[in-house]
Amino acid sequence: MAYETIIVEVEDHVALVKLNRPDALNALNAQLLTELADALTAAQANEKVRCIVLTGSEKAFAAGADIKMMSEKSFVDVFMEDLFTPETDQILRVRKPIIAAVSGYALGGGCELAMMCDFIIASDTAKFGQPEINLGVMAGIGGTQRLTRAIGKAKAMDMNLTGRFMGAEEAERAGLISRIVPVKKLMEEALGAAAKIAEKSMITTAAIKESVNRSFEVTLAEGLLFERRVFHSLFATEDQKEGMSAFVDKRTPQFRDR
Ligand code: CAA
Repeated sequence: MAYETIIVEVEDHVALVKLNRPDALNALNAQLLTELADALTAAQANEKVRCIVLTGSEKAFAAGADIKMMSEKSFVDVFMEDLFTPETDQILRVRKPIIAAVSGYALGGGCELAMMCDFIIASDTAKFGQPEINLGVMAGIGGTQRLTRAIGKAKAMDMNLTGRFMGAEEAERAGLISRIVPVKKLMEEALGAAAKIAEKSMITTAAIKESVNRSFEVTLAEGLLFERRVFHSLFATEDQKEGMSAFVDKRTPQFRDR
């Protein structure tokens, strides 16, 4: 698929996917979401790619779902097309790690898209928010659910009910993001983290992603059982033998995803 609203580059085992609707602050319209889901699915299928970085521009990661696209839609329209579900389901099926590199606005669907990634590295200019309430609606793709799990009820209620924006410092304190870096260093930091992940066994990165995500779905006892079973199963891999023997031999492991 040729893309018009995103830019994809693959370099050194990392796919960099850049949202690119500068005139609309990367608002998520149907075309962008379709292209993004397609690009991430292609990155999953591309054997060269071991980690993905999703980013926007310096001014905006994404300022939300495209309001102009939604403004005339009726309940029946959005219900029958199951607005945003096919694309977000496709994005969530990606098993390779995805890092969101966020600068500027990450609002509404933009904040929710960042939260669908595995972790968020943000610039000191990042602003997160769920301002859908100002439009007479509410968050629809994770803003009341993933955000609450990430930052707790008090702040999630505050963000969703007042529509206020949260800066990078507060977002880090609250646990929404993993790192803050100066805006000029954002891509270096995110691509550096991705390069580190790309050195690991892809069996283990997929297993970790699955296991951490499982913690949101099940009880602690079930989650610990799931984790233990996956941990035990990794002993069936050549990469476990390689990783542990490399440690004992004081050398760098050469993982082969076997
Ligand atoms: N949808 C469509 N267009 C958008 C947009 C959006 N979410 N956000 C910004 N734009 C467009 C603006 O309409 C404007 O286009 P024009 O030049 O053609 O008028 C352009 O991007 C630049 O925006 P502004 O002039 O508003 O820029 P600013 O710097 O003054 O303000 C902003 C920036 C505070 C982010 C402001 O644009 C804003 O509030 N945007 C909307 C944020 C929002 O409400 N997001 C939630 C959307 S609903 C949603 O996401 C539902 C869901 O959960 C899935």
